[in-house]
Amino acid sequence: MDNLTPRGSMGIERIAVLGAGQMGNGIAQVAACAGYEVVMIDIKQDYLDNGLAAIENSLSRVVKKERMTQQDADVAISLISTSTEKTSASDADLVVEAIPEIPELKFSTFTELDSICKPEAILASNTSSISINAIADATNRPDRVIGMHFMNPVPVMKLVEIINGQDTSSEVTELVVEASERMGKVPLACNDSPGFVSNRILCPMINEAILALEEGVAEPEAIDGIMKLGMNHPIGPLALADLIGLDTILHIMNVLHEGFEGNPKYAPSDLLKDMVSEGKLGRKSGEGFYSYS
Ligand code: CAA
Repeated sequence: MDNLTPRGSMGIERIAVLGAGQMGNGIAQVAACAGYEVVMIDIKQDYLDNGLAAIENSLSRVVKKERMTQQDADVAISLISTSTEKTSASDADLVVEAIPEIPELKFSTFTELDSICKPEAILASNTSSISINAIADATNRPDRVIGMHFMNPVPVMKLVEIINGQDTSSEVTELVVEASERMGKVPLACNDSPGFVSNRILCPMINEAILALEEGVAEPEAIDGIMKLGMNHPIGPLALADLIGLDTILHIMNVLHEGFEGNPKYAPSDLLKDMVSEGKLGRKSGEGFYSYS
C-alpha cells in the first residue's frame, strides 16, 4: 500500500462493532449513547438478539438510576442496527473488532475487513492480548490499525487502553482518542507489548492470588476480602477472575509467558490450568472460585 496516498481529513460518525458478546454489545451501547450510528455484526442472529437484549437491560438500569431519560435510551437503541454480514461494515469510519481471542481468526478477519472497508476507515481491535503489530500485518493499512481495549463491564468502566502499533499514524490515534472521549471514556495510550499495560499487571496479580489459594495460604473469601479492604479494590482478584473468565486469564498468562521468553514469573498456576480443563470458567460457566447458580 502507498502510505502517502492522501485520504483527506475524516471524522468518525459511523461505527461497526464486530461481535455482539459481552464486550461487543457494551461497545455498541456506549457508541450509540454517544450519538454514533452503529452496526453490530455477528455470525448468528441469535448472538445479535442476545447482544441487543443485554444493551436494553443495561440501559434500563441506567434509566432506573435516573442517569438517562427513557427517551435518550430509545434514541440510543434506534441508532443500533444489526447484521450477520461483515460487508455491513463497508461504510463505517471506525470498526471495533470484539470477536474471540483466537489469533488466526483475528488475522483472517482483519484481512477481510481490509478488503471490505473504505480505505480511510480505521480498524481497531478490542484484543486483550494479541499483538497489534501482528494484526496490522494482516492488512494493507497498518497505519490505520490500532488497539482499543475496553474494560468489562464496558458501560461502567472508564478506561479505554489505546494501543499504538509500530505503524499506527498519529492522526489515527487522535481520532480514536477523540471517539473514546465522546463515548465518555478516558483513553490512555501505550505501545504494543505482551499484555499491554492492563493485563501485564492485572493477570499476574490474579495468578498470584490463585497460587496463594493453591498453596492453602487462605480461603477465597479471605484472599478477596484482604485485597478489597486492604487495597481498596472494588472486588477481590478471585471474584474478578470469575468475572473476566478463567479461560481468558489462562490465555493471557500464556501470552505473557511466551512473550517474555518463558520468564517463570508469568507461568500460569496449576490450579488455574486445572480449573479451565475442568470447565470451571467463572460466571459464564456457573462455577469458578465461587458458585453462580
Ligand atoms: N450496565 C449499566 N450499569 C451497570 C452495569 C451494566 N452492565 N453493571 C453494573 N452497573 C452499575 C450498577 O447499576 C451500579 O450503579 P450504582 O453505582 O449507581 O449503584 C454500579 O454499576 C455498581 O454495580 P452493582 O451495584 O451491581 O455491583 P458492584 O458494586 O459489585 O459493581 C462492578 C460492579 C462495577 C463491575 C464492580 O464490581 C467492579 O468495579 N469490578 C471490577 C471490574 C474490573 O476490574 N473490570 C476490569 C476487568 S479487566 C478487563 O476487562 C480487561 C481484560 O482484558 C481482561
